[in-house]
Amino acid sequence: MLILGIDTSCDDTSLAVMRYDKKERRFEILSNIISSQIKAHVEYGGIVPEIASREHLKNITAVYRMALEKASVNAADIDLIAVTAGPGLTGSLIVGYTFAKGLALANKKPFITVDHIKAHTAANFMEPYNIGYPAVALTISGGHSSLSVLESPIESKFIGGTIDDAVGELFDKVARYLNLPYPGGPVLDRMSKDGELKYKLPKPLINEDNYNFSFSGLKTAVITFTKQNKDFELPHLAYSMTRSICDVFVKKIDKAAREFHAKTILLSGGVACNSMIREAVRELGAKRKVEVVMPPPILCTDNGVMIAILGTLNYLYSENKNTKNSDVYPTTRW
Ligand code: KG4
Ligand code: ZN
Repeated sequence: MLILGIDTSCDDTSLAVMRYDKKERRFEILSNIISSQIKAHVEYGGIVPEIASREHLKNITAVYRMALEKASVNAADIDLIAVTAGPGLTGSLIVGYTFAKGLALANKKPFITVDHIKAHTAANFMEPYNIGYPAVALTISGGHSSLSVLESPIESKFIGGTIDDAVGELFDKVARYLNLPYPGGPVLDRMSKDGELKYKLPKPLINEDNYNFSFSGLKTAVITFTKQNKDFELPHLAYSMTRSICDVFVKKIDKAAREFHAKTILLSGGVACNSMIREAVRELGAKRKVEVVMPPPILCTDNGVMIAILGTLNYLYSENKNTKNSDVYPTTRW
């Protein structure tokens, strides 16, 4: 079975062609094309929604053609078209959604919409049924920080998330304040490698008896710290801030893993590229003897592969009719 996955939720126009072997229950990536818009947004220090939707519109047909060509398939060979319905930027979502819907109608192909956050987790499912369940999944990105428990690849229950800024937003906004290039996450990650735990920063909600996160206070604390300590060193600041984030994530994942008897911890989303966070979660898994699975960095940031995977699994195995051939319009639950 061949699947086309499309994501235009934010600033990347991402299309992938995947093969799914139903007997082996295994996915294979035939192409994964990501057209980044970073250059168009960099001078603004963040994503400008209006520019993002125009860029998607400009690029999507070329990216689609490249995805088919790289996979050596024709439009007629595709068996299912999967696209992100939300959460994301409304204008950007609509470009991907209408493109996918048009392709489905023109080529008489089944069409399915998927949830972007759940799809990030699905980037771990190249072999979805080889993972031990229940699994605790942390999805951390520019727009979301969410913790869920999965009973299977397609049955997930949200147990907590950010009550204000997402963790990627924290990285990007702190970087912008410090006049570092956008996106700030990768830049602060590189800097933290030369840093040490020198500055004491808060660990929001770490001891609360729930699975919520809050990062806007940490952002304010970091900015206040830099105003009060003019001679601060950037690597130490990047390290100390990321250490606070790691400690919060480790504590909450550990609590969830124990409460829900997790066999696996799944990490995903753009911020899951972060080297300190990857290491901290791996250490937790080793300590608690729970398997840890995380995608390679190229499948952590937005991509069409994860959309194709979740679309296929929902299409083939979900009992929930709302997710089958659904006509859900893009939403703005960002
Ligand atoms: O998943 P993604 O591509 O888009 C959303 O769904 O938001 O995530 C983008 C976010 C940005 O905030 C970016 O700064 C962050 O992921 N990011 C990182 C790293 N690489 C990307 N954050 C921390 N460390 C990184 N290495
Ligand atoms: Zn994302």
